[in-house]
Amino acid sequence: MNNNHFLVIANWKMKLSFKETLKLTKFLKQKTKKFKNELIICPSFPFLNEVFKIIKGSKIKLGAQNTFWEMKGSYTGEVSPKVLKEIGCRYVILGHSERRRYFHESDHDINKKVKAALKVGLIPILCVGETEQERRFGQRDFVVRRQLEVTLQGVTNFSSLIIAYEPVWAIGTGKVAHPKDACYAHSFILNFVKKRFGKKAKNVKIIYGGSINEKNIQGFLGHALIQGTLIGGASQKEKSFYNILKVINQEI
Ligand code: PGA
Repeated sequence: MNNNHFLVIANWKMKLSFKETLKLTKFLKQKTKKFKNELIICPSFPFLNEVFKIIKGSKIKLGAQNTFWEMKGSYTGEVSPKVLKEIGCRYVILGHSERRRYFHESDHDINKKVKAALKVGLIPILCVGETEQERRFGQRDFVVRRQLEVTLQGVTNFSSLIIAYEPVWAIGTGKVAHPKDACYAHSFILNFVKKRFGKKAKNVKIIYGGSINEKNIQGFLGHALIQGTLIGGASQKEKSFYNILKVINQEI
């Protein structure tokens, strides 16, 4: 199986210092030269520019962890998508469950962010997924459909879009979804996207996120429905992240 197009996105959250971020970036730049898969790293806002200078010209691409929906104005503390584009970002994570939970971002807010990102040519990495309770009550499909419907409302003009299925109960918990369950959720998302976007659905990549590590990554490879992964914890350390990349590139 060829994993060359398997997309790996590293979400470094608010976990690394400036020094640690630069060290990990340099390590990855050096170590991933031989690897074929696509790699996107998402450091904290203040480090984006420095990280971009390091990875420029390499195969690693830059993503932000959030953005605001306005381009410019009196919005103290917010970051414009236009500015992210200007400093070298190509991608932006939107609707992560931590943003929904701690900052009360609604699907409507996320929808505005998706549209603003697309407007400036950033590729959204749109996160959807059910909570533990919703899963227990058998509401996964309902929740994911509602999230997709609202966050993608009015979205028509895009060349590329990434949807990350991230069940909330799997994020940072060590409880990874079974690859079969992930495939089911991905096929549900794919059907939605096909109905919604028609031929353009081929420009949508569907990836899985939640407690991926060097031991379980293998199970997520080789499925046509799983086109990549969004990794938090295990992407924040040289050893675990490198081992994951080695598995993907069939070096283990
Ligand atoms: P995790 O985080 O890999 O630590 O579970 C995933 C994410 O937050 O996107």
